[in-house]
Amino acid sequence: MTAERAEEDTVAYEIVDNIAWVSFNRPEKRNCMSPKLNRQMMRVLDEIEFRDDVGAVVLTGEGSAWTAGMDLKEYFRETEAQGLGATRQAQRESYGWWRRLRWFQKPTIAMVNGWCFGGGYGPLFACDLAFCADEAQFGLSEINWGILPGGGATKIAVELMSFRRAMYHSMMGENVDGKTAAEWGLVNESLPLEKLKDRVTEVAKVLLEKNPVALKATKDAIRRVSEMTYDNAEDFLVRAQEAANSYDNDGRKEGIKQFIDDKTYKPGLGAYDKSKHQKA
Ligand code: ACO
Repeated sequence: MTAERAEEDTVAYEIVDNIAWVSFNRPEKRNCMSPKLNRQMMRVLDEIEFRDDVGAVVLTGEGSAWTAGMDLKEYFRETEAQGLGATRQAQRESYGWWRRLRWFQKPTIAMVNGWCFGGGYGPLFACDLAFCADEAQFGLSEINWGILPGGGATKIAVELMSFRRAMYHSMMGENVDGKTAAEWGLVNESLPLEKLKDRVTEVAKVLLEKNPVALKATKDAIRRVSEMTYDNAEDFLVRAQEAANSYDNDGRKEGIKQFIDDKTYKPGLGAYDKSKHQKA
């Protein structure tokens, strides 16, 4: 039996060229989410969210798993043994960091390198974009051990997949590989494991070029409008842009200027040079 990992070691991160690479770091337990890991993840998100040297976040896993879902021993059995208060606290801690990630200030990318089960769908959905290895395996295995897909997993299945696929995926407890996960809409793309990090780095670098205020407004808008009528969405988007202008009213003007006056780029083909107005 391996020695128990300290709470602060359950999540690892490094910042390289403005990208924060955050890892589930319990490879010996297939990165399943224990209360300790959930608490540590929230601390890490706190540390990196408003750092000037972080422009994008990638969430990945050490070893063969992205995450094998909730820790059946520490999150379920041991917590339940302590009573309802402990159960509710553990739920708050896990749901809390997923919610934090859903509305994170910086763009987020799930880089699913291996196993992704059950509760793992929470952080998967929380990330704005998701890329996986063809070799990864995705499963709502709850049914295999006798519960429904909770912690938002059922909602996520319905958000991301067709009715028939959501029903089959949750009732059958069968895994799908990366390519099928991409076809079903669980991730944006699936590619061979050895190419995964390069592709995610490429995507993150594109995001780093964009206006960060516009990126945050855009990602929030995509999540918000799905629950609105058309008229409510139209109104919300006007207000959201005006609110974004209160943080950055010059970026979009610079974007127009570089296209119309300077003719240094074409918005249809890429982003304006945001360093020009940031330095001014
Ligand atoms: N909860 C608790 N412990 C786990 C979990 C988990 N979700 N997943 C893996 N572990 C532990 C194993 O018990 C084992 O511990 P041990 O070394 O002390 O015996 C260790 O991690 C390694 O796991 P193995 O099963 O030996 O690894 P293997 O690579 O053979 O299999 C697999 C990987 C398929 C991911 C397997 O571990 C598994 O089925 N895990 C559970 C997946 C799951 O259904 N998760 C719950 C989803 S439902 C929810 O999240 C609400």
